[in-house]
Parts: sequence; structure tokens; C-alpha cells
Amino acid sequence: MRVLVTGGAGYIGSHTVLQLLEAGHQVSVVDNFSNSSPESLRRVVGLAGRNVDTYQTDLLDRPALGEVLASIEPEAVIHFAGLKAVGESVAQPLKYYKNNVAGTLNLLEAMDAVDCRTLVFSSSATVYGESVDLPLRESTPRSATNPYGRTKLHIEEMLEELSVSDSRWRVANLRYFNPVGAHESGQIGEDPQGIPNNLMPFVAQVAIGKRPEVQVFGNDYATADGTGVRDYIHVLDLAEGHLAALDYLSNTEGLHVWNLGTGAGSSVLDVIDAFARISGRPVPYRITDRRPGDVAESYAHPEKARLDLGWKAERGLEQMVEDMWRWQSKNPEGFPELNPEPLNHEQLAKFIQGRVDDQS
Ligand code: NAD
Ligand code: UD1
Repeated sequence: MRVLVTGGAGYIGSHTVLQLLEAGHQVSVVDNFSNSSPESLRRVVGLAGRNVDTYQTDLLDRPALGEVLASIEPEAVIHFAGLKAVGESVAQPLKYYKNNVAGTLNLLEAMDAVDCRTLVFSSSATVYGESVDLPLRESTPRSATNPYGRTKLHIEEMLEELSVSDSRWRVANLRYFNPVGAHESGQIGEDPQGIPNNLMPFVAQVAIGKRPEVQVFGNDYATADGTGVRDYIHVLDLAEGHLAALDYLSNTEGLHVWNLGTGAGSSVLDVIDAFARISGRPVPYRITDRRPGDVAESYAHPEKARLDLGWKAERGLEQMVEDMWRWQSKNPEGFPELNPEPLNHEQLAKFIQGRVDDQS
């Protein structure tokens, strides 16, 4: 299938592009590289031994996006492109509504114009807001506690209304729990810019010695050890969920919602212990105040995806940490910095395809 992946150079996107290539799909990527580097795609192409047609295009540039879709003529789109930092979204809400909501609107219009109406969308468990009704089911009422979360909620609603208005649309809203881990090669992984917002990449940077200690945001929650519990999911399991959703949409009409989580929770201290053990490095930590807006526990009821898609997360915390540690130790500074000048389609092709040529 000809699949367009927006945000395909990013963390989850790059792992999904690799699996799409391995499954034989013809993959194009649109990314503005605002939070990623074409180096991730160069490595993906090296791992897969197959090429990715890549465009440095911003979803906010509607005419350029239209041209790209017209030349690709995708049969389906997997839409990862978006901004995701909760704190930044509180400080700059308009930036988030513009990039995530207006960017998605542009994408939907551009898809409609080329008669492509099959979409897999990166939603998030953040749409369950502060719900304490665990485990979280697809039917759990939605709410938002910050502008980032509200962009996901608005997009889900927009897609629902679109599907009602025109039955040709086939949509999957995938609600991810906490994606972590990396490809087992250690060649691609999460490359946070600046101080990581999320626990796992922060712990990885403490283990490698880049940061002195982890701050544990509260140990007085009503959980087994008092620290926050989350449903961490290996990024490769998550990527497989996208391929399963794509497959499902090729046979089934309408809009569908699936949680992508393991159904099991790990505490902050579980994560720190696993990292210290697997890396063999000390991971000093200090208990501090709770982070505003955090819930004590969040984990999925993952059965709907198992029943509908035949998909189930297979990798446990040990493997998540092992793979993350391999990526972190092989790439302590993340992907190398590249020349910030935008690349045109031919230049990108040369840079990315070079990796296949290097290996042949
Ligand atoms: P990421 O930042 O690594 O990837 C997003 C990609 O989109 C980046 O490559 C970025 O350059 C690109 N992008 C952003 N705005 C763009 C625009 N206007 N035009 C073109 N490209 C643009 O993030 P990720 O962790 O891979 O997340 C992918 C998606 O999954 C996001 O929509 C995110 O909100 C969602 N999600 C992520 C998590 C998580 O914890 N990582 C959890 C739930 C949902
Ligand atoms: C955060 C976001 C959420 C987003 C999710 C996945 C907030 C309030 N929520 O959720 O919208 O969907 O990431 O990207 O930012 N922790 C520490 N020390 C740290 C970092 C985190 O103790 O330095 C704790 C947190 O309190 C939490 C757990 O670790 O209990 C996981 O935190 P994090 O990785 O930020 O994920 P979420 O809180 O689930």
C-alpha cells in the first residue's frame, strides 16, 4: 500500500516507518524536522534496505502539502506530526492549537482533495484527563487538563464529525499510553531536545551521567510504593499497533478508537530500579513535590485492540529498559546535529538513500 506518514522522522514515526517498509509498504514521509532529524530516516532506510520518499514540508503550508499529496497519491495516511510538550502547551497554547489542530485540518483537506480518506491518528491517553476509573477503557469519558491534551480531544472530535458527514472516511484514533524503548539495533530511538519532560528519557540521561539525579515527583500517592504508576509501552509494540489498525481499516469502514497500552502499570521507583539494574550504573534520585496535573495511576484496558485487531503488547519493562539503554549508550548525544538549512526533495533523497548505497 502507498502510505504517507506525517511526522515520520520523529520518535514513534521512525519506528513505524521501519515496520511499514519491512511489511512491504511503499512509504512517503512529510516532516518539517521541527523536533527531529532526517538522520533518523537515513538510519531507518539503512536498517530496512528500502527507501523512503521524504519531503521537508510543514503541515501549516497548505499549498505545499497539497502538492506533495498530489504527487504521492497515498492510499492511507498515518498522522504523527504534532507538538507534544505539555508544559510548553500551557505557556504557548496558540502555537499548539495552530500546529496540531490547524495542521490536521490542512492534512484532512489535502487528503480529501486527492480522494484519500483512510487515516490513522496519534491520539493519547491524555484524553482521559484526570479519570480515576481504572483501567481506562475507550468508553471512559474524555476531558483535557492542558492545551496539548485539548488539541488531541478537538482532533478526535473533528474526525468523529467528519466520519459522520461522509461515510467514505475510515479513521483510527489510537490512544497511546506511555511510549518508551527503542529499536533493538540501538540505531533509532527517542532524542529529546533539552531537558526531557518524561520520566524514562530523563532516567536514561541520569544513568549515562548527563544529569545528576532523578526527581521523583511525589511518594505519597495511593499506590503500592507511593510513586506514580503508568502503563509504559514499548515503541515497537506501539508501531505494530499502527500496522494492525491500517490492516483493519482496509477491510472496515467507519471510525474506530483503540487504546494502545499493556494493561499493566509500573511505578517511578520500578523504572529507576530496572534502569539501575540493567545499565549497571547508579541512578540517584530524590523525592520532591508532586508535579501539578499528575494523576496517581494510569493504565489501559487493552482488550478492545486485542479483540478487533488481534494486537497485544508483547514486550515487558525489562526489554523496554534494555533497548532504551542500548540506544542511549550508543548515542549519548542523540542524533548528530545537521546543517539547519532546509533540504529540497532531491537533497533529502540523496542524504537518506545514501545509507542504502553505503551498505550495498
Ligand atoms: P516527535 O516529536 O518525536 O514526532 C513528531 C514529528 O512531527 C517530529 O518529527 C516533528 O518534526 C514533526 N512535526 C511536528 N509538527 C509538524 C508540522 N507542523 N509539520 C510537519 N511535521 C511536523 O513525537 P512522537 O513522540 O513521535 O509523537 C508522535 C505523535 O504521537 C504526536 O502526535 C504525539 O502527540 C503523539 N503521542 C506521543 C506520546 C509520547 O509520549 N511520545 C504519547 C501520546 C501521543
Ligand atoms: C505526560 C504528560 C501527558 C502525556 C504523557 C506521554 C504531563 C502532566 N502529562 O504524562 O500529557 O500524554 O506524558 O507523553 O506532563 N515523573 C517523575 N520525575 C520526572 C518525570 C516524571 O517522578 O522527572 C513521574 C510522573 O510524576 C509520573 C511518571 O513519572 O508519575 C511518568 O511521567 P511522564 O513520563 O511525564 O508521563 P505522564 O505523567 O504519564
